[in-house]
Amino acid sequence: MTAEYKVHGDVAVITMNNPPVNGLGHATRVGLTDGLSKANADAAVKAIVITGAGKAFSGGADIKEFGTPKALAEPNLLSVIIAVENSAKPVVAAMHSVAMGGGLELALGCHYRIAAPGTSVALPEVKLGLIPGAGGTQRLPRVVGVEAALNMIVSGEPVKSEMLAQLPGQKLFDKMAASAESLAEEALAFARSVADARPLPLVRDMKVKHPLGDAYFQFARNMVKGMAKNFPAPAKCVDAVEAATKMKFDDGMVFEREIFAALMFTPECRALRHLFVAERAASKIPDVPEDTPKREIKSVAVIGAGTMGGGISMNFLNAGIPVKILEMKQEALDKGIATIRKNYEAQVKKGKLKQDKYDQRMALLSTTLSYDDLKDADLVIEAVFEEMGVKEKVFKELDRVMKSGAILASNTSTLDVNKIASFTQRPQDVVGMHFFSPANVMKLLEVVRGEKTAKDVLATVMAIGKKIKKTAVVSGVCDGFIGNRMIEQYSRQAGFLLDEGALPQQVDKAIEKFGFAMGPFRMGDLAGNDIGWAIRKRRATERADMKYSRTADKLCELGRFGQKTGAGWYDYKPGKRDAIPSDLVNKMIEDHRKELGITPRKISDEEIVQRLVFALVNEGAHILEDGIASKSGDIDMVYLTGYGFPIYRGGPMQYADQVGLFNVVEAMKRFQKNPLDDAKFWEPAPLLTKLVSEGKGFN
Ligand code: NAI
Repeated sequence: MTAEYKVHGDVAVITMNNPPVNGLGHATRVGLTDGLSKANADAAVKAIVITGAGKAFSGGADIKEFGTPKALAEPNLLSVIIAVENSAKPVVAAMHSVAMGGGLELALGCHYRIAAPGTSVALPEVKLGLIPGAGGTQRLPRVVGVEAALNMIVSGEPVKSEMLAQLPGQKLFDKMAASAESLAEEALAFARSVADARPLPLVRDMKVKHPLGDAYFQFARNMVKGMAKNFPAPAKCVDAVEAATKMKFDDGMVFEREIFAALMFTPECRALRHLFVAERAASKIPDVPEDTPKREIKSVAVIGAGTMGGGISMNFLNAGIPVKILEMKQEALDKGIATIRKNYEAQVKKGKLKQDKYDQRMALLSTTLSYDDLKDADLVIEAVFEEMGVKEKVFKELDRVMKSGAILASNTSTLDVNKIASFTQRPQDVVGMHFFSPANVMKLLEVVRGEKTAKDVLATVMAIGKKIKKTAVVSGVCDGFIGNRMIEQYSRQAGFLLDEGALPQQVDKAIEKFGFAMGPFRMGDLAGNDIGWAIRKRRATERADMKYSRTADKLCELGRFGQKTGAGWYDYKPGKRDAIPSDLVNKMIEDHRKELGITPRKISDEEIVQRLVFALVNEGAHILEDGIASKSGDIDMVYLTGYGFPIYRGGPMQYADQVGLFNVVEAMKRFQKNPLDDAKFWEPAPLLTKLVSEGKGFN
């Protein structure tokens, strides 16, 4: 049973008990309606309290039931709320800790509400591309007013109960408890005080208006449109709240339900629900049980105070974990520390960081030139030059000095983590922690699992990833890991498109219209075109079969490395980051085509998007086959958090599912026939072919 029933004298208490957050799964809903029936049938009971055990009143829908028939099985949440409203005896919601989504909607169906201070109150459905679907949009405005309700519903953000209690004229809480500890006692006393009150107050009978009427909703609609142009749900929140002010309650409920049902089937909602599930699933590793004991990480060492070392250090300082940075020379240390300082000071200036917090963080930072000073660190992350010889020296030193049980991580982006591990006598303690630049900002952390990496090392690194607020995704060892291995194919397509007739600005514009934060050429200019150049030079000997457009090499031969050299695929004005299409580059591309005897053709935006995105999909399918990623959702998380893939499309693999894998494969077969493209690459991955023949998707 996931709701307990207990009678305390003349008050029945129904306690939802479905850890971790008392999700309103089917069994909980049955427990609630059973409890209500019992209480109403018991002459000794005069009033009823509904509350939650443990860490929440209720966090809303039970995510374990998402998408299953159980989610809608009777009594569904709407029926439970009607049963509460119709109870002949007063029902009091005793809210604490978390009252979100369906949990808040349930409370709004109760006749009275009492809350403990510190309760997080929210209707977060918009974050899943939905609007509240069990009366939230109709009842919340009636108790906190139009503006407060709309802010909560459109943002989905939690607001503390004590803040809501201060809203003028609010009817959300009939009483605030003195503390979470006294809530149970105070709820019983309150229930007794209203035991004989009749008629019972119902939120549905209250009236709500905004003084500005239509003008206000027009304003709200414009605001929301600007904020969330690719998501339909926020604008629908405005419509639903407006309905609360204009329609009869029951009509408003039907209106809300219709919007909810229509949104459920939009690609944006599917994408956001996928993201929600994939994000939680990413931290689960198939053969590493969740209860795997973790090593304690109380201090961190970072080798190298360059671009990455500095950013990586900031993550730990922000989380209150002391960091010691090692460099070869004092000047390099000074420079690295100055950059960290500058980054924090910019945050202080913008008001994003308080001075005392800044001081605390800097106090956690220390430096050294000697490996012996690092020996006690629990985790050391290497971020030195990307050369195997340099990594070898560093890891041999670390192996010599680090205490037993310390985790030895490398931030390498291209080198073989197994090889790096082999430089030590403790390969089980070695792991890749691949951060993305700027490391203090980007959410993604690829955790690279070596052949010998111990399970508790993986579990520990995943947990520390969470602690420093990263989205950690496990990748096996291969060239480029998940993200860069796929982006290489995407970049290769971008190059072929130039050869065939497109210009950088057209390619960028098409993919940015699709929703990418930045097209491949603007991205190259930002990251530095010389990085890809170095990789291609290496490939020429390692993987001569990989075909590239020569345009990018020619660009680098002109010294146009991107923003850092003031010119790349685009021109840049001094000190500015605006990408200006370059006549020189366009001419270079045209000359290149002439040299190859290519007659340029007009390429549609649709073809550009398909070739770039499906290149990711095909390589992603190979990555799954090779076991480099354990599930397609992991690949999507990498692209959503590290590569600016549009959130509302849910990641490349989810997008392919939306398009239909049959259609994806058909497009690949078309691309195979293009003599200027790479026919071998476009051979659909066996996994793709298999899924199509089984009528399945990646998910
Ligand atoms: P960087 O050149 O900015 O910094 C490297 C730092 O390491 C320099 O300050 C250098 O003095 C120091 N260093 C070199 N050898 C050393 C040694 N033996 N002992 C101590 N310190 C030493 O390079 P960056 O960009 O920070 O890259 C570092 C690592 O991170 C590389 O493995 C790179 O592939 C990887 N990486 C870089 C990304 C980027 O966008 N820059 C993204 C992800 C990973």
